[in-house]
Amino acid sequence: MTILVTGGAGFIGSNFVLDWLAQSDEPVVNLDALTYAGNLGNLKSLDGDARHVFVQGDICDRDLVEGLLARHQPRAVVHFAAESHVDRSIHGPGMFMRTNIDGTFALLEASRSYWSKLEGDAKAAFRFHHVSTDEVYGSLKPTDPPFAETNPYEPNSPYSASKAASDHLVRAWHHTYGLPVVTTNCSNNYGPYHFPEKLIPLMIVNALAGKPLPVYGDGQQIRDWLYVKDHCSGIRAVLAGGRLGETYNIGGWNEKANIDIVKTVCALLDELKPDPAGPYSRLITYVTDRPGHDRRYAIDARKIERELGWRPAETFDTGIRKTVQWYLDNAAWVADVQSGAYKDWIGTNYGGRT
Ligand code: NAD
Ligand code: DAU
Repeated sequence: MTILVTGGAGFIGSNFVLDWLAQSDEPVVNLDALTYAGNLGNLKSLDGDARHVFVQGDICDRDLVEGLLARHQPRAVVHFAAESHVDRSIHGPGMFMRTNIDGTFALLEASRSYWSKLEGDAKAAFRFHHVSTDEVYGSLKPTDPPFAETNPYEPNSPYSASKAASDHLVRAWHHTYGLPVVTTNCSNNYGPYHFPEKLIPLMIVNALAGKPLPVYGDGQQIRDWLYVKDHCSGIRAVLAGGRLGETYNIGGWNEKANIDIVKTVCALLDELKPDPAGPYSRLITYVTDRPGHDRRYAIDARKIERELGWRPAETFDTGIRKTVQWYLDNAAWVADVQSGAYKDWIGTNYGGRT
């Protein structure tokens, strides 16, 4: 048996592939376009491992996907590939529509064509697992209950709107064509191989470089943080036992304000790599807010716990310590991803903020 993973060279996808192959010998075909966010360096430990077949290609290329499905006969497609950064979606929404909507459409059509030709047990066992986000539910007020699977969709950014559209396509392919799908909507991940455009890795790499730590607005926006390996175990649980056509929210039961996240990162760095110039918190700089910035996300993860027995293994304290330590231990990876294109993005996103 084999699974086809899309976006398996990105942050969560590469953690998923590494975890999968650490726990089973079931091969992975990994389709990834290697955009700025895709990095084969994340998968270096799999060099020469015949269980990992990497294919550089675009999920929008339906012929390519159909060929891969026909050749490898996977029992599941696990779909991570996406444009994933909210700030980039504000500066340039076009790629988000193409990859997240058109790409998911192409993948669904290729999967439907493949699945319709399967027979017997292979047909019954096939799964299309769509990896999505809590941002599709919009923004919570301070006293609102956390997002349940029944919350209405109210996406606010080009990114979340494109992910919401993709969720709707997946739902429709199940209801109309019977494609055996499951969808997971997860909260903010953090951990190894996180590209330093997102809050936690950006704060770590900027602090270590003695650069300002840019906090948007008042820093009181709240996110629910989940260690990436817990997201991977949640996906495995839903892939194995999730009910067809259902969605499952995955979260860490761990709501934190951005400014508290930044202060925690600073305190850990003060302990693990003290800076002779003084505490890292001296670098915290409040900057112009993100347009349309969602104030609060929180996940009600009771359904996945009730039905599948999943709960996160890491607390925020254990997960963030491992994460900061990983960045300290992997300076070469950090240097490698901070290429010319990375510098261009930092100029685009932070240059105009005061
Ligand atoms: P990422 O940006 O780190 O990685 C995305 C990967 O997709 C990259 O390897 C990239 O090369 C690949 N890709 C992009 N366009 C492609 C295309 N057209 N064809 C093939 N590959 C393509 O993203 P991530 O943070 O790892 O997120 C993975 C998935 O999880 C996304 O669908 C995202 O919406 C979802 N998600 C992310 C988070 C989070 O906190 N990062 C939380 C919940 C859900
Ligand atoms: O909730 C799940 C989502 O989490 C995923 O679907 C997205 O793919 C992922 O990128 C993430 O989205 P966010 O916008 O929440 O993540 P980001 O790390 O970009 O920002 C986290 C919070 O920190 C957010 O409130 C904005 C703020 N922020 C971010 C950056 C990059 C800052 O204050 N300063 C910054 O420089």
